[in-house]
Formats: sequence, structure tokens, C-alpha cells
Amino acid sequence: RNLFGERLNSSGLNLADPEQLESLQQDLDALAAKHWTAMPLINGSPCSGKERLIVNPYDNRLIVGSVIFAEPEVIEEALSGASEAFADWRLCPVAKRAGCLKQAADLLEEHRLELVSLCVREGGRTIKDALAEVREAVDFCRYYAQSALDLFGEPIRLPGPTGEENLLYHYGRGVYVCISPWNFPIAIFIGQIAAALAAGNTVIAKPASQTALTAMRCIRLLHQAGIPESVLQFMPVSGSVFGQHLLPDPRVAGVVFTGSTATAQSINLQLARHHQTIVPLIAETGGQNAMIADSSALLEQLVQDAVTSAFNSAGQRCSALRVLFVQEDIADKTIAMLIGAMQELNVGNPGVYQTDIGPIIDHAALSPLAAHLEAMQNQAQPLYQLPLSDGLEHGGFFPPSLIELRSLSQLNREVFGPVLHLIRYRESELDQVISAINATGYGLTLGIHSRIGTFVNTIRQNVKVGNIYVNRNMIGAVVGVQPFGGMGLSGTGPKAGGPDYLRRFVIEQTVTTNT
Ligand code: SER
Repeated sequence: RNLFGERLNSSGLNLADPEQLESLQQDLDALAAKHWTAMPLINGSPCSGKERLIVNPYDNRLIVGSVIFAEPEVIEEALSGASEAFADWRLCPVAKRAGCLKQAADLLEEHRLELVSLCVREGGRTIKDALAEVREAVDFCRYYAQSALDLFGEPIRLPGPTGEENLLYHYGRGVYVCISPWNFPIAIFIGQIAAALAAGNTVIAKPASQTALTAMRCIRLLHQAGIPESVLQFMPVSGSVFGQHLLPDPRVAGVVFTGSTATAQSINLQLARHHQTIVPLIAETGGQNAMIADSSALLEQLVQDAVTSAFNSAGQRCSALRVLFVQEDIADKTIAMLIGAMQELNVGNPGVYQTDIGPIIDHAALSPLAAHLEAMQNQAQPLYQLPLSDGLEHGGFFPPSLIELRSLSQLNREVFGPVLHLIRYRESELDQVISAINATGYGLTLGIHSRIGTFVNTIRQNVKVGNIYVNRNMIGAVVGVQPFGGMGLSGTGPKAGGPDYLRRFVIEQTVTTNT
């Protein structure tokens, strides 16, 4: 907090300073050959087993490290360790839990370089994205630490008649399973864990299998910050072992998941099928995110924001722009300017600071993109595809693409990559545009570009999405500033990095005493 008591977000690095930038690049280059390892950590002890090599998505001849995935018996040990540790952790003073998270935030900042290096090499994130991730992770730790103190630091004293004391206590629920995605291997991985721990739960953290090395480094730092090893168990594990042996176990008290809508639905079904009690699930999933621009929009700003929103992180963000609705009068000019802006994008090695767009994480994520483009050839109008430069053939790169559609119904699923769809609409058709967006069932992010207040308000009041951005890009929600999360097929809420997030991780107990 600053002198006025306002909360401050992590300040990161000043890369406008050429010296800082050069030294960052040199330090990252020096780490580029390091071999990393990850394995399940059960009560702090590393497990042995068969190793799987992790390659760099930018060039799959480059090995980043190796990971051991958990066998079923390891899951049993993690569950008993985490549930035994819960007895103490739930009663541990909130100030102590918060203190560990604040310490973790400091350690994350201190170890920024290693984390960025890993995230770039293993996750294919650009340096800019990786730096932003570390900042977001730091923010999550500090924000949830403070939030826990504010919400649960003391029991809430409630009114009652003379001679009666009423207190409302908050406790963790038990063992939380945190399941995180490969596209934010630091920020979302840490954010889920920090929230569950701050609220008094113990955690089994399952990283995405593509980014387990980055996750392991984060776990080591969290342990170093004072979070007991039995309170935070680390579990790289295949989806099938996880689904069969971990989710159905009665010791699982809650699940927090970020990933695809289909996987969230499957987790929800499994929890309902196997558990006697109703196990709460917090899910943050995908989006069919739109931006709507009318003819009053500032074209330069619209184009810059659309390109950033659609192509940053190679479109591998749940918040990314998928469909740009442009009013007919400005459509041709917008298309010409979009193509011009796309030609300026630097696609390539994410380990070079100037790169804007890195690779697609793996083959499984790449092939649906190619299939989508193929399917669109007959029913839509391909407008532009940025040619890829030579030397990228050993990685999973996908060319940023612009496609014109006739209607949103032509898109029947989220296309998780650097593909921007554009649809023209007439002024009189705004209601149909809004209905089409709502009819997708998703409700995550929405962009509006307009200088007309009534236009902005009509959309704002009628589109069912969680995060609306007016006259700016629509990615990169900041902790405590833009609480993030959607509705409908996009997730359950509550919003990550918002004032109500921790409440969903606790149980309440009212104690009435006749004094
Ligand atoms: N919070 C991220 C964003 O806003 C997505 O998870 O881009």
C-alpha cells in the first residue's frame, strides 16, 4: 500500500530503459540451456518414476527438461498428507497464512528471471507475456493475503439481545484440488493456489502437463515462503489417473479449475456422480468473445486494440477477441488497416524481446486451427494470412489469420488461436448482433469501440458477459482492478482478483453464546 493506503500492484521492470532491457535479454540467454526437472512432491518429498521429456514449442529439437507424472499410489499419499495437514492449517491464524503469501510474492519477484525463462521455453510465452505473468502472480499473492485478513481476520460480531453474543467464523473447507492451464502457467497456477491457501484450505496442485516445469519452480518458492510442504502438495499427473483416482475421493472438499468448457463440464459430472456431499467447483473456461465497433470509433485505436486482443499470446487466452463486428460504413477501411497492422506483427522466437507472437503450445492445439481454416475455405471469405518467416518449421507456429464471416452462427466452437473473424453489420442490426452474441451461451469478455454513449450503454446493458472493455483492448485483466471471470458456458464465477473470490473457498459457522 502507498502512503494513502491504496493497494499497489507489482511494478515489474522498466523496459523502456535500454540498459535494463539488454541486461534482461542477456540474463535470459544465459539461462536458455538449463535443464529443469519436475516430479510429484508429496509432503515435500520428490517421487521417482518414468521421465517424460519436455520440448520447447518454438523448436521441438530443444529440450527444456523432464517431468515425472504421478502413479495412483502417489495420489493416495498426497490426499492423506493434505487432509491431515488441514487440521492445523484451518486453525492457523489468518495473519500467518497471509504472511506466507506476502513472502511468496517477494520471492516470485526475486526469482523473476528463472520464471520468465521457464515460461518462455516451456510454455512458448513471449518475454513480455511472461513478465506480465510474474507480475500477475505477485499481485494474486498480495491481493488474496490482504483479502483474507480483511474478510476472515476476525470473526464477524453480529447483533443480538442483551446477554447473547453472536459470532460468525470462517474456515477453509478442506483439501482443494487446483487444476490450472498451460496458457498461464505462472499467474493462474499461483492465483488458484494462493486463494485456496489464504482461505484456510490445503491444496493438491495439478499443473497442466505441458507446463509442469514452470509450476514446479513456483511450488518450490511457495514452500520456501513458509507454506508447509504437507499443506501444498504438487501433483503432475495424467488426466486419466487424475480423473480415476483423485477427483472421486471423498477427501476432496473443493475444486478450482481453469481450462476448456468441456473439461469443466466433465469435472462437474464426476463430482456429482462420485461424491455424497456437494463439492463446490469454481470453473473459469472459454469464450466466444466479440468486439463491436460503430462508425464513430477511432479507427487507429480500434485496429490496434483488435490486433492486440486477437493475436497477443497467439490468441491462446480465454479472454482473446474472436469476432469483430464492424459497422458496414467503416468495414472496408477497417479491414485494410487490420491487414496493415497484422503485417507489422513479429512472429517467431518467444525468447527474443521484440517477438510479438510465439508458437502454439503443441500439436494437439495446432491441428484444430488448421482444420478450422480448412473448413472456413468454402463457407467464409479468407481476408488475410500473415506469411510465416523461414526458420520456424521445427515449432508449432500458426499464421495470424483474418476471415470474414456472414454470421456468428458459422462459428460453432471457440477457436483457440490467432484467428480473427470479422462480421459486417448495419446500424439497424445492433439488436441482432447482441442477440447473436448472447446466443453463443458464452459470456466472458466483450469489447466496444464507439464515441456514442447510448450505443455503449445499450450493449453494456444487454450483453451477458463478465468483463466489458470500452475503447481499449480486452485482454490482460489486472488483479484488484478488473476482477476477471465470465458467466454461462464461460464459467461459474466468482471473479478472480476480485473482492468476493475468497468467500467461495470457505465455510461459515455461527456461534451463539448465552453470556
Ligand atoms: N486474465 C487473463 C486476461 O485477462 C485471461 O485469463 O487476459
